Amino acid sequence: MHWRSFPFLLLSLLGTVLAAPPSFENTAIVRTVELGGAVVHVTTTYAIKATQPGAKVYTIAVGLEEKEKTSWLQVKVKGQQRELDVFHHPLDSSRNFHLLDVTLPKPLGLNATLNLVMDTLQTHATFPWPKEASQKDEQALKYHTDLFVLSPYHTAVQRTKLKAPNPRIISYTVPENVKDFTSDTPATKQGATVTYGPYNNIVSSANKEFIEAHQQRITAHYFHEQPVLEITNFQRAAEISHWGDNLNIQDNLVLHNAGPTLKGHFSRLEHQSQAYFKRQAPHALPALTLHLPAGIRNTYYYDLIGNVSTSRLRVAPTAPKNQRANRYSTLELRPRYPILGGWNYTFTLGWDAPLSDSAVYDKSSGKYIVEVPIMTPIPGAVVNKAEVSIILPEGATDVEFSAPFPAVMNRISTHKTYLDSTGRPMLTFEYENLTVMHSQNIFVLYKVPLAAHLTKPFVVGVAFFSLFALAIVARRINLTIHKKAKTL
Ligand SMILES: *[C@@H]1O[C@H](CO)[C@@H](O)[C@H](O)[C@H]1NC(C)=O
Ligand SMILES: *[C@@H]1O[C@H](CO)[C@@H](O)[C@H](O)[C@H]1NC(C)=O
Ligand SMILES: *[C@@H]1O[C@H](CO)[C@@H](O)[C@H](O)[C@H]1NC(C)=O
Ligand SMILES: *[C@@H]1O[C@H](CO)[C@@H](O)[C@H](O)[C@H]1NC(C)=O
Repeated sequence: MHWRSFPFLLLSLLGTVLAAPPSFENTAIVRTVELGGAVVHVTTTYAIKATQPGAKVYTIAVGLEEKEKTSWLQVKVKGQQRELDVFHHPLDSSRNFHLLDVTLPKPLGLNATLNLVMDTLQTHATFPWPKEASQKDEQALKYHTDLFVLSPYHTAVQRTKLKAPNPRIISYTVPENVKDFTSDTPATKQGATVTYGPYNNIVSSANKEFIEAHQQRITAHYFHEQPVLEITNFQRAAEISHWGDNLNIQDNLVLHNAGPTLKGHFSRLEHQSQAYFKRQAPHALPALTLHLPAGIRNTYYYDLIGNVSTSRLRVAPTAPKNQRANRYSTLELRPRYPILGGWNYTFTLGWDAPLSDSAVYDKSSGKYIVEVPIMTPIPGAVVNKAEVSIILPEGATDVEFSAPFPAVMNRISTHKTYLDSTGRPMLTFEYENLTVMHSQNIFVLYKVPLAAHLTKPFVVGVAFFSLFALAIVARRINLTIHKKAKTL
C-alpha cells in the first residue's frame, strides 16, 4: 500500500484509538537501515503481544521527517506473502508524528504474539558530504534519522542498526541522555554496522512528552561507492495501435548525478587512467544497464546531440506469458561522456513491441485489456517526477483503468496526430519519488467499435490517395516546365 492512498479523515476513530487502553505491547522492535545512495531501505520488525483478547488493529507511529522521506511502504506478517491493509491517519499539525493502523490477518487472543515487518524505501534521505569532490576523491554521504522508533505501546526492548555499504564508516552519533533505557554503551560499531541499543523498558512514546524528553537525531557519515542517481524528470508516452499490432513506448529522461559536485575541471585523461586501473571515481557514471521488455524492435536512443551509437542492446525473444517476468532485453546505455557529480544528462529512449504481448481481448465484456509498465526500473535510482501517458486507439470508448498505486494526479484528454480524424483518448498519470518497487503495470480497458477500426485505414487511404493525386499533379506541372524549358 502507498502513503497517498488514504485521504479520508476519521477524527472520531482517531479519538477512540488514542483514548482506548492499549491492546498490545511490543516485546521487541528492531529497525535495520541499509544506508544507500538515492534510495535507503528500512525494515522494522515489531514483535507484538496482545494485552486484550480480540485485538485486531495494531498502530504504528513514524516521525514526520521519516514520513516525508518514505516513498514506498508495506506491512506483512513475518514469513508471509500477503500485504496487510494499512490505514494512514490524516496529518494532524498538533502532533509531530504520523500514525498508521495495520489490520491483522485475524484477531489475536490474550497474550498471543505475532511478528510484523514494515518495509519502507526512503528517497532523498541522504546527501553528499563534503558537497564537492574532485575526480580523484571518494564519495561520502550523510544520513539522519531519529534514535527511537516511536510506538503508542510499551516496548520491552528496541534496537536500531545502521548498515553501511562497507566498514569504513567516517563517523556516527553516540547519543547522550539515554541512561533511562540502558546502562551499557548507547551505540556500538561492529564491521559495517552501528547498533543503537538495546534500549529497555520504553514507555508509550507516540506523544509530545516522550518526544520532547528523549527523541534525538542520529547521523551516520559513510563512503558510498556507486553514483547517486536521480531521474529529475521522466516522461513516458505509450501509444497503442491495433492496426499495426504495435505498442510504442518513448521515454524522455533527465538524469542527474546527485553525488558531490565536481570540483575543478573534468579530465578525460584522468578518467581514462582510472578506468584503465579499474578505479573508476565512485561518483562518475560511465554507463547504465537497463532491462527492457523482451521482443522489442526498432529501439532508439538519442541525446541532445543525436544518435548515441556506443550503446549495446541484446534483445530477448518474446516470452510465453508465464515466463515473462524473468525474460528481458538488456540495454547497456553508454552516454558520450561519463556523468559526474552535479551533472545532468537528457536523453530519449524508445522502442516498438508487438501489442499482442501486452494486450488481451475479453470476449465477455467486449473490451481490450492492455498492460503498460509505468517505468523501466533503474536500480538504486529515484524518479523525482514522472508523467506517464497512455494513448489509446482512435475511437476507443468505455475507457477504464486499474493502477497499482494512486497517482499524484491523473486525467483523461484527447491526443490528436496528423492522420487522426477525431483524436485518441489519452490517459495521463503523474507520480513523484518512484523507486524500483514502483515499476509495476497500469491496466487499461476500453472498447474499439468496429467503425473505429475501419476509420483508420480509411483516413490513411484518403491520405495516400491525396498524396498520389498530388504527385501526379506535381509531375504534370514539372513536365510542363520541363517542356517549356526545352523549347527555349
Ligand atoms: C517527494 O519527495 C520530496 C523530497 O523528499 C518531498 O518533498 C515530496 O513531498 C515527495 N512527494 C510526494 C508526493 O510524496
Ligand atoms: C497473560 O499473561 C499474563 C502476564 O504475563 C498472565 O498473568 C496471564 O495469566 C496470561 N493470561 C493468559 C490467558 O494466558
Ligand atoms: C543509431 O545507432 C545504432 C547503433 O547503436 C545504429 O544501429 C542505428 O542505425 C543508428 N541510427 C541512426 C538513425 O543513425
Ligand atoms: C541540473 O539540473 C538541475 C535541475 O534539475 C539544475 O538545478 C542544475 O543546475 C543542473 N546542473 C547543471 C550542471 O546544469
